[in-house]
Amino acid sequence: MARILVISNRKGGSGKSSTSVNVAAELAARRQRVLVIDLDSQGHCALGLGVKLERQAPTVHGFLAGRHDLRPALTHTAWPDLDLIAADPLFEHGMATDRETMLRDALCAEGLHEAYDTIVLDTPPSLDGLLMNALCAADRVLVPFVPHFLSGEGVRQLARVLFKVASKGLNEHLKVLGFLPVMVDLRIGQHREVSASLSHQFGAARVLPGIRTDIKVAEAFAAGKPVRWYAPSSRASTDYAAAVQALETLWA
Ligand SMILES: Nc1ncnc2c1ncn2[C@@H]1O[C@H](COP(=O)(O)OP(=O)(O)O)[C@@H](O)[C@H]1O
Ligand SMILES: [Mg+2]
Repeated sequence: MARILVISNRKGGSGKSSTSVNVAAELAARRQRVLVIDLDSQGHCALGLGVKLERQAPTVHGFLAGRHDLRPALTHTAWPDLDLIAADPLFEHGMATDRETMLRDALCAEGLHEAYDTIVLDTPPSLDGLLMNALCAADRVLVPFVPHFLSGEGVRQLARVLFKVASKGLNEHLKVLGFLPVMVDLRIGQHREVSASLSHQFGAARVLPGIRTDIKVAEAFAAGKPVRWYAPSSRASTDYAAAVQALETLWA
């Protein structure tokens, strides 16, 4: 049975897609079979994984709109054990299904649960049927955040949604795995303060070692490669490896 990790923060630009692609790549490099499902119609995971979709190709959004099953949307990347179910860039948010368990049900019914060790779900910041489907399907939430004084709001908004999932009894397995500081610059006092405040609220073990600011993350994305393969000796590559090591310890 696959473990399902949802990457979420209600704030845009908080490193969700970079984290989805690079954490998935790091897990695949550790010989896990990994599937990324991109629920954000911006379609960034396909870009970051170098996957070009045909027009009209099946996508996770086509599946949620009831046009086809989920499995036909599966594509392989250039790397072994790293697959993608891409987003539909033409999908209009707000049109998503109000059946919150559609994704969870299909992962089981179509055998994707058996086919992978870890499934990583990238999500949109909006609160809609897409985010709800992701939260209903997942076992753990990883929250990337940029440590500045406004970042608390995206985390608080996410906490409210998690409370809603729990109080509606939609997914009793769901837990927050941890928080991942991204675009970190420890010379900035604010960064230390925000990370310290999250450690204080959620426990120091829940705050993973962060990803330092590194232009290689953006460059790798533009080149359609995870950073561990685009720039193996970069700061970001080292940091993602350490973050995934800590993530595995927390999840054990
Ligand atoms: N460690 C990092 N160093 C430098 N830039 C980064 C880093 N992580 C993410 N970025 C950049 O920040 C922007 C937002 O990240 P992204 O992953 O797209 O966030 P989200 O999916 O939450 O909107 C992107 O341009 C990305 O390249
Ligand atoms: Mg994104």
